Amino acid sequence: MLKPKMEKLFNEQINKELYSAYLYQSMAAYFESINLPGFAHWMDSQCQEEQVHAMKMYRYVNERGGRVILEAIDKPQSKWDSPIAVAEHVYEHECYVTELINKLYDAAIEVSDHASKQFLNWFVEEQVEEESSADEIVQKLRLIDGNGHGLMMVDREMAVRLLISPEIAGHTVEE
Ligand code: FEO
Repeated sequence: MLKPKMEKLFNEQINKELYSAYLYQSMAAYFESINLPGFAHWMDSQCQEEQVHAMKMYRYVNERGGRVILEAIDKPQSKWDSPIAVAEHVYEHECYVTELINKLYDAAIEVSDHASKQFLNWFVEEQVEEESSADEIVQKLRLIDGNGHGLMMVDREMAVRLLISPEIAGHTVEE
């Protein structure tokens, strides 16, 4: 049985994961509006990943006899100054999510919830990947420094890249 403290924190995290999905979809819409379909594809994929994260937690709470309560999702930002501003925002947001996962992990240790610790290990690893892939895009965009031709090249590269990890893609298919 999930302890009340963990149930509350997991519910809060489900909301944050859904907010992340919403934010990334808003970024996809921004990229569509400035005719960068490859970058929009990147954000569409990120949005799907966040939904998978939320559903993983949703199922876990139910499996442990907890109760999922869905709250309102905050309105996401809808305008950015440039593609690099979006990429930097993604990176900062992922660092923030890492902190939230770490706090959840700390709480699991505090209440000796070993099952939750084990469950959260997947998220701890996932955040390493999430931060790293966002940082890679930031670095690429810094390198091209607003050059239009470079931007188009990166956009084409993003359009054909499989941006969802095979594990996530597998989950999406199964679910
Ligand atoms: Fe669910 Fe991108 O962290």
